[in-house]
Amino acid sequence: MLGTVAVVGAGNVGATAAQRLAEKHLARTVLMIDVVEGVPQGKALDQWQSGPIEGFDARVVGSNGYDEAAGADLFVVTAGIARKPGMSRDDLVKTNAGIVRSVAKEIARVAPQSIIVVVSNPLDVMCYVAMRASGFPRERVLGMAGVLDTARYRMFLAEAMDVSVEDIQAMVLGGHGDTMVPLVSYTAVSGIPVSQLLAADKLAGIVDRTRGGGAEIVSLLKTGSAYYAPSAAAVQMVEAIALDKRRVLPCAAWLQGEYGLRDVFCGVPCKLGRRGLERILEIKLSDAERADLVKSAEAVRSTQAMVDAG
Ligand code: NAI
Ligand code: 2OP
Repeated sequence: MLGTVAVVGAGNVGATAAQRLAEKHLARTVLMIDVVEGVPQGKALDQWQSGPIEGFDARVVGSNGYDEAAGADLFVVTAGIARKPGMSRDDLVKTNAGIVRSVAKEIARVAPQSIIVVVSNPLDVMCYVAMRASGFPRERVLGMAGVLDTARYRMFLAEAMDVSVEDIQAMVLGGHGDTMVPLVSYTAVSGIPVSQLLAADKLAGIVDRTRGGGAEIVSLLKTGSAYYAPSAAAVQMVEAIALDKRRVLPCAAWLQGEYGLRDVFCGVPCKLGRRGLERILEIKLSDAERADLVKSAEAVRSTQAMVDAG
């Protein structure tokens, strides 16, 4: 169990993540920080009062500043504006870069040894902003997207084959956007290659649906984006770190030559432990998957350049 986990942004993803963190006993204190006065305090008090019912002892607190986050172990950064219908993730870049930059500077000031899990969109570029603004090494700045995209992929596959989601092994790599790369060659049902169980056209349809998984929910909700699965995904990463589980999960990580890519955040298989990113696993990809991964990383790089340009 960690001492303090702070969730920055007490909106849909942040508040749901805070509740999940408390219910999973991952920290003694779960702190929510938001710029809106009263909201993090009110949500925290409400969540804390669910403790006697849910059986958790974590103290959930809310704040509009960072004093309470001094020495926190880990920050989940969800601050920013969410995607609206018709808005691409990249449309969010300028506004959210300013927000994430100011948040990361505060984190570095009050908790220089902490780990940052970024959720704000556009995800891979916000990781870059957080790493640059905090000055943290790559081991302590990770992005949540691959766990969510993989969960969507696994769920669609389980539905199509009428099997338990628990038996679907899969991984989605690449940037968190339309160019993400569901790894069909590593997709299996209890070890059986998916190509033996599902027709190619059905599989291709699921890959496409996965790539549009976030937009599908935005078009239904109309006033916001997904948050139940995203918060669960972020908390799974926190759990792997808090409990030093050494889980291998697809996360956005700063690449330094892995997969032939350098100086870009991109979703790759990562081993997560108490130090954050313990290791990036380099696995064999088919030629098509490798080409798709490079294309996806280049899409991230072009948005990253927008941030560099100011
Ligand atoms: P939301 O609008 O419900 O919550 C965002 C919160 O951030 C608001 O409460 C707002 O007041 C707060 N905020 C704004 N500026 C702030 C600042 N400077 N400091 C602290 N708090 C600040 O949005 P939601 O649905 O929670 O999404 C949050 C972010 O996560 C969005 O950028 C969204 O696109 C992204 N997202 C990313 C996913 C991923 O897979 N990486 C999945 C789902 C959402
Ligand atoms: C999602 O994939 C909006 O990035 C967010 O749901």
